[in-house]
Amino acid sequence: MEQFDVGVVGTGYVGLATGASLAYVGHRVTCLDNDQERVASLREGKIPFYEPGLQELIGKSAGRLRFASSQRLTEVIRESDVLFVAVGTPQGGDGSADLSNVADVARAIGRSLGGSPPRELPLVVANKSTVPVGSAYYVSTLVGEGIDEVGGKGAEFRVASNPEFLREGNAVHDSLFPDRVVVGTDSREALDALRTLYSPIVEQSFPTQWDPRPKVAVPFVTTDLASAEMIKYASNAFLATKISFINEVANLCELVGADISEVAYGIGLDERIAPRFLSAGLGWGGSCFPKDVAALRATAREYEHETPLLDAAATVNERQRRRVIQKLQRELHSLKGRRVALLGLSFKPNTDDLRGAPSLAIASALTSLGARVVGYDPVAGKAAAKLAPDIQAVFDPYEALRGTHAAVVVTEWGEVRGLDPKKVASLMRDPKLIVDGRNALDAAASREAGLLYRGFGRGYDTG
Ligand code: UDX
Repeated sequence: MEQFDVGVVGTGYVGLATGASLAYVGHRVTCLDNDQERVASLREGKIPFYEPGLQELIGKSAGRLRFASSQRLTEVIRESDVLFVAVGTPQGGDGSADLSNVADVARAIGRSLGGSPPRELPLVVANKSTVPVGSAYYVSTLVGEGIDEVGGKGAEFRVASNPEFLREGNAVHDSLFPDRVVVGTDSREALDALRTLYSPIVEQSFPTQWDPRPKVAVPFVTTDLASAEMIKYASNAFLATKISFINEVANLCELVGADISEVAYGIGLDERIAPRFLSAGLGWGGSCFPKDVAALRATAREYEHETPLLDAAATVNERQRRRVIQKLQRELHSLKGRRVALLGLSFKPNTDDLRGAPSLAIASALTSLGARVVGYDPVAGKAAAKLAPDIQAVFDPYEALRGTHAAVVVTEWGEVRGLDPKKVASLMRDPKLIVDGRNALDAAASREAGLLYRGFGRGYDTG
């Protein structure tokens, strides 16, 4: 295996998972961040967020994986063949992606490159941050400006887009066993470097005890810059639309008396449709779907182009959250003074991430209607208490349920799925309403225990 020296700027989910997985398969990697505290704790082996298996992967890569302050960018660039940009592109006020972090990094790369002695091979700048289609050229321009700023001559670099598809909560698995690796570039050198860099992952030729699945080659997709950037947006927009689609069907199921779980199973068996991402409920959240759908719509607006399907996907998603409130109102009528428990606060299980979490929107809607909100989450409770003053966070699910008129299953953590319905019923106050926003509980067992169960798209139990 050809060993590369790799730099990664940004130690969020994408940067850390990329750095750790490339180090694990045999490359020498330095991850940079401008947050000194974060770097210090990473050096002690502590990761700044909850991501199953990542700490272990970092531990297994020790010796080949280093962490450093971004102040050492020049030094890292000097010794790197490939430099990944993996900084955040948060949603700006108008829905478009805010590129200021990417722009700062691009200029800094230019200045570092410009101030360095001539290189044997050009530096490959591979962008993993999710940036609007066309941004690779922008990054290229900014790196060039940085080089000019310091009067650098002959500093060579090539740009590639290498989008990341990892799911939070599955970051390790998705980095080592991706469905595909996508590289967009117009440079042969960049393509060759990234192909070789990824070859252990593409060929699945690294030793692992993480996943027992048989080794199969991972498709390595090579394309132009704009198409690579679009693949990322279109993937997330498609998945978000798929969920909104099933939610729309679920709403119809409630009217006609059909069960969305049966319907999703029945349609998912069609290979053209596929079974995943057909779980109906209170909708999608997270750091990617809401932001990326908004950014793609914003890109379309730049071209005065309409995106009715994406607009509808976003509208359906907002409505799903409102349906939680409507389901509560249908049974409790006024929510003033009612005590409501939110079970699960992170945007999905196996993460402590609260970005775009439906729990936050639901809690603020509930408090504005006069309800008292108690929240439980096995890992995100403390963060939620800080972020959402509307939520009284408690650390035991049964404690959260004590004395409540209603509970909403917001996130289908194992701890929530596994609740004993009899014990739940004994703690709650009438009408002991459960709004199951993820269709995660056993409806029959809940009803048998004396709970008033309401799911999403389960026509027979909308009452
Ligand atoms: C997503 C993409 O899956 C990943 O490829 C991309 O790189 C980043 O964005 P992530 O945000 O971590 O990953 O979560 P994901 O598992 O995709 O779930 C997104 C949201 O959809 C969650 O709120 C989840 O609860 C919801 N969801 C998912 C559903 O409501 N129904 C489903 O069937 C699947």
